[in-house]
Amino acid sequence: MIYELSNPVVKTLINHLRNSKTDALRFRQIIHELARLLAYEALKDEDLEKQDIITWKGKASYTFIKEEDLVFIPILRAGLPMIESLTALFPESASGFLAMKRDEKTHQSVLYYDNTPPCEGKTVILLDPMVATGGSLSDAIDYVEKKSPKKIISLNVIGAPEGLEVIEKRHPNVNLYIAQIDEKLNENMYIIPGLGDAGDRAYNTQ
Ligand code: PRP
Ligand code: URA
Repeated sequence: MIYELSNPVVKTLINHLRNSKTDALRFRQIIHELARLLAYEALKDEDLEKQDIITWKGKASYTFIKEEDLVFIPILRAGLPMIESLTALFPESASGFLAMKRDEKTHQSVLYYDNTPPCEGKTVILLDPMVATGGSLSDAIDYVEKKSPKKIISLNVIGAPEGLEVIEKRHPNVNLYIAQIDEKLNENMYIIPGLGDAGDRAYNTQ
Protein backbone atom coordinates (compact mmCIF):
# COMPACT_ATOMS: atom_id res chain seq x y z
CA MET A 1 0.00 0.00 0.00
CA ILE A 2 1.08 3.55 -0.70
CA TYR A 3 0.31 6.30 1.78
CA GLU A 4 0.90 9.94 0.84
CA LEU A 5 1.15 12.42 3.71
CA SER A 6 -1.25 15.34 3.40
CA ASN A 7 -0.12 17.56 6.26
CA PRO A 8 0.60 21.21 5.32
CA VAL A 9 3.81 21.10 7.38
CA VAL A 10 5.04 18.32 5.10
CA LYS A 11 4.02 20.17 1.92
CA THR A 12 5.81 23.32 3.09
CA LEU A 13 9.04 21.41 3.73
CA ILE A 14 8.80 19.69 0.32
CA ASN A 15 8.42 23.01 -1.44
CA HIS A 16 11.48 24.43 0.33
CA LEU A 17 13.39 21.47 -1.14
CA ARG A 18 12.22 22.44 -4.64
CA ASN A 19 13.71 25.93 -4.24
CA SER A 20 17.13 25.86 -5.88
CA LYS A 21 18.25 28.57 -3.41
CA THR A 22 17.95 25.98 -0.59
CA ASP A 23 21.59 25.10 0.06
CA ALA A 24 22.98 21.64 0.84
CA LEU A 25 22.98 22.08 4.63
CA ARG A 26 19.36 23.28 4.76
CA PHE A 27 18.44 20.60 2.21
CA ARG A 28 19.77 17.86 4.49
CA GLN A 29 18.10 19.46 7.53
CA ILE A 30 14.72 19.41 5.79
CA ILE A 31 15.26 15.77 4.81
CA HIS A 32 15.97 15.02 8.50
CA GLU A 33 12.62 16.55 9.47
CA LEU A 34 10.69 14.82 6.70
CA ALA A 35 12.20 11.45 7.62
CA ARG A 36 10.92 11.90 11.18
CA LEU A 37 7.45 12.91 10.03
CA LEU A 38 7.31 9.90 7.70
CA ALA A 39 8.43 7.54 10.48
CA TYR A 40 5.88 9.05 12.85
CA GLU A 41 3.13 8.12 10.38
CA ALA A 42 4.58 4.75 9.37
CA LEU A 43 4.99 3.53 12.95
CA LYS A 44 1.62 4.68 14.24
CA ASP A 45 0.40 1.08 14.69
CA GLU A 46 3.72 -0.37 15.86
CA ASP A 47 3.47 -2.79 18.80
CA LEU A 48 4.48 -1.46 22.17
CA GLU A 49 6.36 -3.49 24.74
CA LYS A 50 6.24 -3.11 28.51
CA GLN A 51 9.53 -2.29 30.19
CA ASP A 52 10.34 -1.73 33.84
CA ILE A 53 11.99 1.59 34.51
CA ILE A 54 12.91 3.59 37.57
CA THR A 55 10.91 6.80 37.73
CA TRP A 56 11.21 9.58 40.31
CA LYS A 57 8.48 7.71 42.23
CA GLY A 58 10.22 4.34 42.07
CA LYS A 59 9.91 1.26 39.86
CA ALA A 60 7.12 1.31 37.23
CA SER A 61 6.20 -0.37 33.97
CA TYR A 62 5.70 1.67 30.79
CA THR A 63 5.34 0.84 27.10
CA PHE A 64 7.95 1.53 24.43
CA ILE A 65 8.56 0.69 20.77
CA LYS A 66 11.01 -2.24 20.62
CA GLU A 67 13.82 -0.30 19.00
CA GLU A 68 16.13 -3.33 18.74
CA ASP A 69 13.68 -4.81 16.22
CA LEU A 70 14.08 -1.86 13.84
CA VAL A 71 16.67 -1.90 11.04
CA PHE A 72 17.11 1.28 9.01
CA ILE A 73 18.61 0.89 5.55
CA PRO A 74 19.27 4.05 3.53
CA ILE A 75 19.98 3.83 -0.19
CA LEU A 76 23.12 5.88 -0.75
CA ARG A 77 23.81 8.60 -1.37
CA ALA A 78 20.56 10.50 -1.14
CA GLY A 79 19.11 8.32 1.64
CA LEU A 80 21.94 9.21 4.05
CA PRO A 81 20.38 12.34 5.59
CA MET A 82 17.23 10.33 6.36
CA ILE A 83 19.08 7.89 8.59
CA GLU A 84 20.70 10.65 10.64
CA SER A 85 17.47 11.81 12.23
CA LEU A 86 15.94 8.34 12.56
CA THR A 87 18.85 6.77 14.41
CA ALA A 88 18.78 9.81 16.71
CA LEU A 89 15.10 9.06 17.36
CA PHE A 90 15.74 5.31 17.87
CA PRO A 91 19.32 4.93 19.15
CA GLU A 92 18.90 1.20 19.90
CA SER A 93 17.98 0.38 16.27
CA ALA A 94 20.42 -1.23 13.85
CA SER A 95 21.44 0.20 10.49
CA GLY A 96 22.57 -1.21 7.18
CA PHE A 97 23.66 0.42 3.95
CA LEU A 98 22.91 -0.17 0.29
CA ALA A 99 24.74 2.02 -2.21
CA MET A 100 23.04 2.21 -5.58
CA LYS A 101 23.62 4.36 -8.62
CA ARG A 102 21.34 4.72 -11.62
CA ASP A 103 23.15 4.13 -14.87
CA GLU A 104 22.79 7.45 -16.72
CA LYS A 105 21.94 5.82 -20.06
CA THR A 106 19.85 2.78 -19.14
CA HIS A 107 18.43 4.27 -15.87
CA GLN A 108 18.87 0.81 -14.31
CA SER A 109 20.09 0.75 -10.72
CA VAL A 110 23.51 -0.71 -9.99
CA LEU A 111 24.38 -1.95 -6.48
CA TYR A 112 27.99 -0.93 -5.76
CA TYR A 113 28.23 -1.56 -2.00
CA ASP A 114 26.19 -3.35 0.61
CA ASN A 115 26.67 -3.83 4.31
CA THR A 116 23.52 -4.89 6.15
CA PRO A 117 22.98 -6.64 9.50
CA PRO A 118 20.80 -9.77 10.00
CA CYS A 119 17.16 -8.84 9.33
CA GLU A 120 15.36 -12.06 10.22
CA GLY A 121 12.18 -11.25 12.15
CA LYS A 122 12.97 -7.50 12.13
CA THR A 123 11.10 -4.50 10.77
CA VAL A 124 13.28 -3.19 7.96
CA ILE A 125 12.77 0.45 7.03
CA LEU A 126 14.21 1.42 3.65
CA LEU A 127 15.08 5.08 3.18
CA ASP A 128 15.38 6.88 -0.15
CA PRO A 129 14.09 10.37 -0.84
CA MET A 130 13.34 9.74 -4.53
CA VAL A 131 11.24 7.09 -6.30
CA ALA A 132 11.54 7.80 -10.05
CA THR A 133 11.29 4.63 -12.18
CA GLY A 134 11.13 2.63 -8.94
CA GLY A 135 14.08 0.51 -10.07
CA SER A 136 16.44 1.31 -7.19
CA LEU A 137 13.78 0.80 -4.53
CA SER A 138 12.47 -2.37 -6.14
CA ASP A 139 16.00 -3.84 -6.24
CA ALA A 140 16.55 -2.81 -2.61
CA ILE A 141 13.30 -4.55 -1.58
CA ASP A 142 14.36 -7.72 -3.47
CA TYR A 143 17.68 -7.60 -1.58
CA VAL A 144 16.02 -7.19 1.84
CA GLU A 145 13.34 -9.83 1.17
CA LYS A 146 16.09 -12.46 0.90
CA LYS A 147 17.02 -11.68 4.51
CA SER A 148 13.60 -12.82 5.88
CA PRO A 149 12.44 -9.69 7.72
CA LYS A 150 9.12 -9.60 9.61
CA LYS A 151 8.06 -6.67 7.41
CA ILE A 152 9.46 -4.05 5.07
CA ILE A 153 8.44 -0.40 5.18
CA SER A 154 9.67 2.21 2.72
CA LEU A 155 9.97 5.92 3.59
CA ASN A 156 10.29 8.27 0.63
CA VAL A 157 10.06 11.99 0.06
CA ILE A 158 9.01 12.50 -3.59
CA GLY A 159 7.79 9.89 -6.07
CA ALA A 160 6.53 9.70 -9.63
CA PRO A 161 3.28 7.79 -10.25
CA GLU A 162 5.10 5.52 -12.74
CA GLY A 163 7.65 4.33 -10.18
CA LEU A 164 5.12 3.97 -7.38
CA GLU A 165 2.98 1.78 -9.61
CA VAL A 166 5.99 -0.48 -10.16
CA ILE A 167 6.49 -0.84 -6.40
CA GLU A 168 2.80 -1.49 -5.77
CA LYS A 169 2.69 -4.21 -8.45
CA ARG A 170 5.98 -5.94 -7.65
CA HIS A 171 5.86 -5.57 -3.88
CA PRO A 172 2.24 -5.57 -2.68
CA ASN A 173 3.34 -6.49 0.87
CA VAL A 174 5.47 -3.39 1.34
CA ASN A 175 3.92 -0.33 2.95
CA LEU A 176 5.35 2.81 1.40
CA TYR A 177 4.97 6.20 3.08
CA ILE A 178 5.71 9.18 0.89
CA ALA A 179 5.62 12.92 1.52
CA GLN A 180 4.62 13.91 -2.02
CA ILE A 181 3.48 12.19 -5.21
CA ASP A 182 4.48 14.41 -8.13
CA GLU A 183 3.19 14.55 -11.72
CA LYS A 184 5.36 12.36 -13.94
CA LEU A 185 8.82 11.39 -15.20
CA ASN A 186 10.56 13.27 -18.01
CA GLU A 187 12.46 11.65 -20.91
CA ASN A 188 15.58 11.35 -18.70
CA MET A 189 13.56 9.63 -15.97
CA TYR A 190 13.70 12.65 -13.65
CA ILE A 191 10.69 13.46 -11.51
CA ILE A 192 8.64 16.46 -12.68
CA PRO A 193 8.41 18.91 -10.98
CA GLY A 194 10.65 17.07 -8.45
CA LEU A 195 13.73 18.79 -7.13
CA GLY A 196 16.58 17.64 -9.40
CA ASP A 197 19.12 15.06 -8.29
CA ALA A 198 18.61 14.63 -4.53
CA GLY A 199 22.15 13.26 -3.96
CA ASP A 200 23.70 16.23 -5.76
CA ARG A 201 21.48 18.70 -3.89
CA ALA A 202 22.38 17.14 -0.51
CA TYR A 203 26.12 16.96 -1.13
CA ASN A 204 26.90 19.93 -3.43
CA THR A 205 27.97 17.89 -6.45
CA GLN A 206 25.88 19.47 -9.18
C1 PRP B 1 18.58 8.58 -7.03
C2 PRP B 1 17.67 8.44 -5.84
C3 PRP B 1 17.18 7.03 -5.94
C4 PRP B 1 17.14 6.80 -7.43
C5 PRP B 1 15.71 6.87 -7.89
O1 PRP B 1 19.82 8.05 -6.78
O2 PRP B 1 18.29 8.72 -4.62
O3 PRP B 1 18.04 6.09 -5.32
O4 PRP B 1 17.88 7.85 -8.04
O5 PRP B 1 15.61 6.56 -9.22
P1 PRP B 1 14.86 5.25 -9.74
O6 PRP B 1 13.58 5.19 -9.01
O7 PRP B 1 14.68 5.53 -11.22
O8 PRP B 1 15.74 4.08 -9.51
P2 PRP B 1 21.04 8.23 -7.80
O9 PRP B 1 21.17 7.05 -8.68
O10 PRP B 1 20.94 9.57 -8.47
O11 PRP B 1 22.28 8.19 -6.83
P3 PRP B 1 22.74 9.24 -5.72
O12 PRP B 1 21.83 9.08 -4.56
O13 PRP B 1 24.14 8.82 -5.44
O14 PRP B 1 22.68 10.64 -6.30
N1 URA C 1 16.88 10.64 -8.81
C1 URA C 1 16.79 11.88 -8.30
O1 URA C 1 17.53 12.24 -7.38
N2 URA C 1 15.88 12.72 -8.82
C2 URA C 1 15.04 12.35 -9.81
O2 URA C 1 14.20 13.17 -10.24
C3 URA C 1 15.15 11.05 -10.31
C4 URA C 1 16.07 10.20 -9.79
